[in-house]
Amino acid sequence: MKPVSLIQFLIEERRAGHINAELSLLIEVVARACKRIGVATGKGALGGVLGEAGTGNIQGEAQKKLDVISNEILLEANAWGGHLAACASEEMEDPQQIPDGYPKGQHLLLFDPLDGSSNIDVNISVGTIFSVLRCPDGVTEPKAEHFLQPGTTQLAAGYVVYGPATVLVLTFGHGTHEFTLDREVGSFVLSRRNIRIPEQATEFAINMSNQRHWQAPMQRYVGELLAGKTGPRGKDFNMRWVASMVADVHRIVTRGGVFYYPLDAKIEKQGGKLRIMYEANPMAFIVEQAGGAATTGRRRIMEIQPTGLHQRVPVFLGSKEEVELATHYHLEADGAMS
Ligand code: AHG
Repeated sequence: MKPVSLIQFLIEERRAGHINAELSLLIEVVARACKRIGVATGKGALGGVLGEAGTGNIQGEAQKKLDVISNEILLEANAWGGHLAACASEEMEDPQQIPDGYPKGQHLLLFDPLDGSSNIDVNISVGTIFSVLRCPDGVTEPKAEHFLQPGTTQLAAGYVVYGPATVLVLTFGHGTHEFTLDREVGSFVLSRRNIRIPEQATEFAINMSNQRHWQAPMQRYVGELLAGKTGPRGKDFNMRWVASMVADVHRIVTRGGVFYYPLDAKIEKQGGKLRIMYEANPMAFIVEQAGGAATTGRRRIMEIQPTGLHQRVPVFLGSKEEVELATHYHLEADGAMS
């Protein structure tokens, strides 16, 4: 079969009425920027890009040089295309406006420029996550409040994983599709159309070092997974934790499984570890479009009305039956099932 490039795929999606020309251009620009991030990441120690930038982001986390470089690449690439009303980044406190004199579009772009960046220095996969929303009608200078839309309103979401191969996974709400970067040609090529995540799983991803801080229903659920064949689940489960959400989620959209970053006593006050706008919502959209589920352990992530650009939530996502069971245990413990 003839390979389908990302550009050809976007033309198909336009013809099918799933996206308009502006959204198509936006995705092309983001994909091009991600190729540049992939090149910067791939240079490793030779590019002088490893290590700390000596600055902190809005969450007070130390920024890596590549966090800053990736953020700049995405901002710069998206400034002039005329497809954006504004963008927001995990690395910046406030939304970034389109510079004066540049054409503006109808879309809002949100991104985590380099997720899992604590893994860069040890040469483990990292990635970019993005989400696209429509700018509310009549708004010319979008502020944070205009970005605060539930995940169900996303027009597109995607991630790029910079691993052994550079891979883009994308949804417009009509299935989830995977593109692999042909490094020699320099273009993304469709490698899987309409990805399906198996409803059952035998592999789970969680940071077990937080176990003692988890709430009781999480202790119960993971305890049963660990008990394996001799426990109530009657089967053995395998565990993986890359600590790069893109890499862990990519494993799940490739061979199934579940990913959990639950609430625990250490992070209870901040509401969770992962950010709803930059991580949870886009990944939830991608996973749901692949037949999986995504909850906070108590409710569907994409139905949450966000209250802050940098709000955090617990994240349970992946194979539907596992996410539903873990969510059921939490609701049962809360007494919501009676
Ligand atoms: P960061 O980008 O700051 O390295 O955060 C990574 C995120 C996410 O990608 C990953 O799943 C999770 O944080 C890992 O958290 P732990 O370090 O607590 O395991």
